Amino acid sequence: MYICGNILSMMNRNFIPKNLNNIQEKGQYTWKSPSNIALVKYWGKSDPQLPKNPSISFTLDACHTITTLHFQKKEVNDDDFSFDIFFEGKKKEDFKPKIAGFFERIHTYMPFLKAYHFEIHSENSFPHSSGIASSASGLSAIALCLMSMEKLMNPAMEQEFFNNKASFLARLGSGSAARSIEGELVVWGEHKEVLGSSNLYGVTLEQEIHPVFKKYQDTILLVDKGEKVVSSTVGHQLMHKHPFAEQRFEQAHENVSAMLSVLKRGDLDRFVEIVESEALTLHAMMMTSMPYFILMKPNTLAIIQKIWAFRARSKSHVCFTLDAGANVHVLYPENEKEVVLEFIEKELVDFCQKKHYICDRAGNGAIELNGDAQIYTELEKQ
Ligand code: PMV
Repeated sequence: MYICGNILSMMNRNFIPKNLNNIQEKGQYTWKSPSNIALVKYWGKSDPQLPKNPSISFTLDACHTITTLHFQKKEVNDDDFSFDIFFEGKKKEDFKPKIAGFFERIHTYMPFLKAYHFEIHSENSFPHSSGIASSASGLSAIALCLMSMEKLMNPAMEQEFFNNKASFLARLGSGSAARSIEGELVVWGEHKEVLGSSNLYGVTLEQEIHPVFKKYQDTILLVDKGEKVVSSTVGHQLMHKHPFAEQRFEQAHENVSAMLSVLKRGDLDRFVEIVESEALTLHAMMMTSMPYFILMKPNTLAIIQKIWAFRARSKSHVCFTLDAGANVHVLYPENEKEVVLEFIEKELVDFCQKKHYICDRAGNGAIELNGDAQIYTELEKQ
């Protein structure tokens, strides 16, 4: 335990910049950063945002946040954070406490933060009230903009360090945001079979991946667009005194092992089993917490039953997963796109609010956008 703690703090220290030169007066950076969907779930953490078990996710493509960070050196260094945040063009005072908390947590690793005034402009590709959490894409996008700033002051910085630290910072904003920097498959949390895996940041899965998992499809059925009754923050906390917590954390390790082998072999039947079991286990943890809670809605269950019935009568490998909410992620290989989309249109859309759903797929991670023209083009494409 003692050794682990020491190694951890040594690794944390690696992310404290030593000599930053080339200090800039002002500038701006824009990043487009995706959301992600976990196949093996992270649920339960210790301070500061360290996962109780390893998780593995597909990085998404269509669901993303585009953030521009403008920075201007302050005339007087007043030892305080100074920033304004705009969401879809509107100034958002109510977003400020979350960003202030994030700045507070990352300040040790970004010591220049208090020397600047920032203006943060963000937009999501998905509707704000869709029930899709924007924290993974939103916080990873800000982390990446800040890393671009740091790289400007330390041009010798290597790409691997850039990505690891971006994920490290994003994690301090929102745990699962650690998995939104690269793609298509990311592991976050130490696992004995994933070389270089860490509780501090997500790493791309470097092993051989069977081609059936390329561009894996994720159609997100928007079952409930409202506010969640219990936030993820509270849900994670409830794992501390959870009667099944230790077994769950152990199971996640085993499921990551099994998933690594599935991804190599292209074993879709086993993939379906692990993914659906993980989704239901996540919600089972919520239902067996004290206090207990349920985030699924009747339509979530109706969709699950329909997917099972469809799979039983067809040769499809379609399956579902869930986040901490009522929406259903329908996962399937690209070569089943036509038949599954027809099934969704025929049998599932009636369970979605206003028949809304989003077609997404596994993607390659965040990209930097340079200049307004490019941002415009990206938004136009949606
Ligand atoms: O990143 P957070 O703290 O919002 O946690 C979300 C965790 C799940 O989405 C429920 C699972 C996961 O691994 O993404």
